[in-house]
Amino acid sequence: MNIAVVGKGAREEAIARKLINENNKVYLINENNIKNYHINMKTNEFSEIKKFCNEQNIELIIAGSEDLLVNGIADYFSGTNIKVFGPEQKYTFLEGSKIKAKNFMKRNGIQTALYTAFNKFDEDKIKKIIKQKNGNIVLKYDGLAAGKGVLISKNYNQALKNLETLKNKYNNPELLIEERLIGREISIMSVTNGKDIKIFQPSQDYKLSHNFNKGLNTGGMGAVTPLDFVTDDVLKEIKNKIITPTINGFKKESIKYRGFLYFGIILTERGPFLLEYNIRLGDPETQVLLPAMKTNLTDLLTQTLNGSLSKTEEIEFDENYHMALVLASKGYPLNYETNKPIKTDYKKLDCDILYAGVKKDENNNLLTNGGRVLNIVSSDKNMKNLIKKVYKCTENIDFENKYHRDDIGTIY
Ligand code: AMP
Ligand code: GLY
Repeated sequence: MNIAVVGKGAREEAIARKLINENNKVYLINENNIKNYHINMKTNEFSEIKKFCNEQNIELIIAGSEDLLVNGIADYFSGTNIKVFGPEQKYTFLEGSKIKAKNFMKRNGIQTALYTAFNKFDEDKIKKIIKQKNGNIVLKYDGLAAGKGVLISKNYNQALKNLETLKNKYNNPELLIEERLIGREISIMSVTNGKDIKIFQPSQDYKLSHNFNKGLNTGGMGAVTPLDFVTDDVLKEIKNKIITPTINGFKKESIKYRGFLYFGIILTERGPFLLEYNIRLGDPETQVLLPAMKTNLTDLLTQTLNGSLSKTEEIEFDENYHMALVLASKGYPLNYETNKPIKTDYKKLDCDILYAGVKKDENNNLLTNGGRVLNIVSSDKNMKNLIKKVYKCTENIDFENKYHRDDIGTIY
């Protein structure tokens, strides 16, 4: 099949590679322009993408990131011969609006943190709740904010400060105030057609910029899969309290969702709670899940789109541990320098590299061009050996201001 993958991250590179391995003709529209299957085109120019897809007889588009879907890429191609793997714009509220997503969870009995939604900013009322809860709360800006619209506090003063920050940043925003939950966070990805769902094995990403989960929220600094602490019993509870009620909610509310659906879950003493939905695959979780996946992804996507997912077997994964480590530019997620030459000793490298924030100069030299520059990815039967192997690989890739966390796979 001829397939276009749209997006410039390591996630999209991982999707493209899996589909190439399955003998598809794949074009990765990403502006990086470093591989022969990369197409140098803006990812948000739907008319250009359409022209290109018509010329290349593309049958399927995979939109990597949520902004493309929220901006209506699925609707743009509806009625054409080109199918988009992802939900129509009207269903993108599941990620695009925290308030609408929480209201959907509540209506459908999905286990999630208690909350109050403010469709109109009401500072006095919000402050009253902050006081009642001793500041042990989470404030969430309603719209898409690339991880920067969620502020967590553990005491009254911190909560007031966070409120002030959101108020000024988003100008009296619509927001949610939520009870703060404590536990290990995991990600469960899936494909669904709104009626049936097939889930991926659990994975974990490391969202904070520094070791021991300190620092600032990032797009993700590393990922591992599978997770030994997610036992069959835990998974069963997640299905009962989160996944099945979601699909029942889709059916009840006639939500004809199709595409990837990501459940961001926190495992608390009171059981699993749903923190968020994402309407696409996770980054960097995809970089570990797709190499682990034994099931044919092309078939899975086709079956989701043609309505035969109910007859599909459960998705299978190999027996190995898989890990991705992000090499970033020092300073990320705030200010960082780019245009640093990347030197890699491929002969010594016992890992895969998935490039993300990179570009080539006029002499074909590879340069840094973003915060998250690349992912080092590998697998092993033994987790300790895997961690050692991945960190050893960092010694053979170099660029000025190279930065990575040192504890991926070793803490939760
Ligand atoms: P969200 O985009 O809603 O998933 O929030 C981003 C991150 O904030 C999550 O991955 C959690 O680490 C954290 N978070 C969100 N909601 C809560 C909550 N109710 N309690 C504790 N942490 C939370
Ligand atoms: N890894 C978290 C996300 O993709 O949103």
